[in-house]
Amino acid sequence: MSDFDVVPTRAGAWSDAQMEALFAEGFPAWIVGDAAVTPLIPRVRDLFAPFDLTLVDHDEQPGATGWGVPLAWDGDPDDLPDTFAGMLGRALALHDTGGVPDTLAVGGAVVHPAHKGTDVAEALLRSLGDVATAHRLERVVAPVRPTRKDLYPLMPIELYAHWVRDDDLPWDPWLRLHVRMGATIQRVLPQAQTMTGTVDQWRGWTGMEFPATGDYVIPRGMSILHVDRDHDLGTYVEPNVWVRHR
Ligand SMILES: CC(C)(COP(=O)(O)OP(=O)(O)OC[C@H]1O[C@@H](n2cnc3c(N)ncnc32)[C@H](O)[C@@H]1OP(=O)(O)O)[C@@H](O)C(=O)NCCC(=O)NCCS
Repeated sequence: MSDFDVVPTRAGAWSDAQMEALFAEGFPAWIVGDAAVTPLIPRVRDLFAPFDLTLVDHDEQPGATGWGVPLAWDGDPDDLPDTFAGMLGRALALHDTGGVPDTLAVGGAVVHPAHKGTDVAEALLRSLGDVATAHRLERVVAPVRPTRKDLYPLMPIELYAHWVRDDDLPWDPWLRLHVRMGATIQRVLPQAQTMTGTVDQWRGWTGMEFPATGDYVIPRGMSILHVDRDHDLGTYVEPNVWVRHR
């Protein structure tokens, strides 16, 4: 197992340069374009800080970070939220009504580029599972954002999620890691996140020009961006895959 210490993620604990290095290959710029998610993030960060972990190396450099939210879930795949924002909103609503959670939903994970391809991603997921156990959350689920879906932006997520290699493990590398650790696919979320922005914003997020109304393949896009020049609007819908670890 990787030689890292697991510490709570604390705002300001690491420098901007350290955070930039950690997230250098993290998420595409348009990840901030989900208008349903953005307003929820400050309360999520604040209320669910115990489920936000960072793995640091011997020099106190962050090597990976991941977080989750506590949910109540009856174990039925259809009872899992249909969107990423829905997952966050459900966790907040449970908190606000004093409900008792029983499930940790892993919301995000990132590994420092220098540590990719080691076992730190697995160590991170195990640490999130440990924190779930410590908080009496008996189940762990994740709306997985498949990392190589961008190579197949036209492929339906139903097909991509269940595409396996000769060894019966998922073709997608990140989904594969979850499944290798024992997770099972519960169901796909074809419209997990909807990112919208003006044509200028999409230009900035992608480095592309959008000279006409129409559909565009964008770098790192898991699906197609639709640009409507008349309404100065670009819309991109991203799929996820619900997996259950335990
Ligand atoms: C997703 C992420 C956390 C996984 O960390 P990682 O260190 O790459 O994970 P692993 O090394 O355990 O990789 C798992 C598998 O993916 C493979 N892999 C890693 N990067 C790959 C790439 N770019 N292309 C193809 N396969 C890749 C590994 O070889 C491994 O394959 P194996 O199952 O045959 O051994 C990391 O890639 C990352 O930070 N990505 C950006 C943020 C993100 O998308 N997070 C997930 C959604 S929240």
